Amino acid sequence: MFAEFERAGKQVKPGREQILAQVTEVTPLARPRDDYKAYLAEIAVPPNLARWCTLPGSFVLLRPESAREAFNVPISVMDTAGRGIRIAVECRGPKTTALEKALLKDGKVTVTGPFWSGLQGCTHPADLAHGNTLVVAKGMAQAAVPPIARYICARGGNLKVLAGPGTLGTVFIGGILEELGASFEIMPKAHDRNLGRISDEITSGSYGLIVSAGSKLQHQALINLLRKISEGNRPVPRFAWISHLTMVCAEGICGACLLAGFRGCKARLDESFQAHLLH
Ligand SMILES: Cc1cc2nc3c(=O)[nH]c(=O)nc-3n(C[C@H](O)[C@H](O)[C@H](O)COP(=O)(O)OP(=O)(O)OC[C@H]3O[C@@H](n4cnc5c(N)ncnc54)[C@H](O)[C@@H]3O)c2cc1C
Ligand code: FES
Repeated sequence: MFAEFERAGKQVKPGREQILAQVTEVTPLARPRDDYKAYLAEIAVPPNLARWCTLPGSFVLLRPESAREAFNVPISVMDTAGRGIRIAVECRGPKTTALEKALLKDGKVTVTGPFWSGLQGCTHPADLAHGNTLVVAKGMAQAAVPPIARYICARGGNLKVLAGPGTLGTVFIGGILEELGASFEIMPKAHDRNLGRISDEITSGSYGLIVSAGSKLQHQALINLLRKISEGNRPVPRFAWISHLTMVCAEGICGACLLAGFRGCKARLDESFQAHLLH
């Protein structure tokens, strides 16, 4: 970052552009419970912004037009469609409830981005593109999976997705994965949170990389599973995870994402840096 500052003649670079964008489509996601609502939405953004949102781990910040920046919600870009981006959002807390109103009533949102730190760990493009990758996706974190799947499938890598409904209660990426020709299986709700099934899959398949798209608890459970596998002196796949941090600016300014002294929104964390996942 300091090198960039020096190259720019010691001038602070402007942050990401903020644009006011039209919401072109909103579809409620069918859920088995009605304790909160979730939606799929399409937002019209300039082609240049959409193009940069195709990389695995891409996300944007969304907030209502009239809201302060503190209301920014990091949201994964599932897909770039025509002149826009496709997102999925579950509306549970204050920020996402304000966003729900902007999507449904105002029909416009302030978009800031793109950012790419939504995928952490072993995320070098070459590691993603080659060999066999297993993605374990649950709940709303499924939204981060389509760009990963598209990236791997387009480069000839092998991908399997084990998808579970989680607290969201539904699997909504099956259609996209089918279109991409990715292999996927829906995991039913299970007492052991499907850890037995996942363990069998890891030990029987020759996976080079495991991606956890879920909660921090899921990341921890998979890390523990990989540790157990390593104790048996078997080859251990590398590990990547979808960021679970609280973020407001995603520019390294506000500190909302601080973990173990790092600004997690700007950090590129290696898979060996797992301390924060265990707190
Ligand atoms: C890189 C990145 C990408 C993300 N992508 C997406 C995305 O594509 N779609 C999406 O919906 N979210 C996504 N999130 C998460 C989303 O940004 C947060 O859920 C949101 O900022 C929470 O703000 P809030 O004020 O609405 O809820 P908060 O009150 O801050 O809630 C915090 C957490 O608690 C959960 N929660 C809230 N209420 C309850 C409850 N009653 N019971 C149990 N849990 C509860 C929320 O789901 C959230 O995980 C992403 C986060 C990151 C960091
Ligand atoms: S989200 Fe503001 S510093 Fe990271």
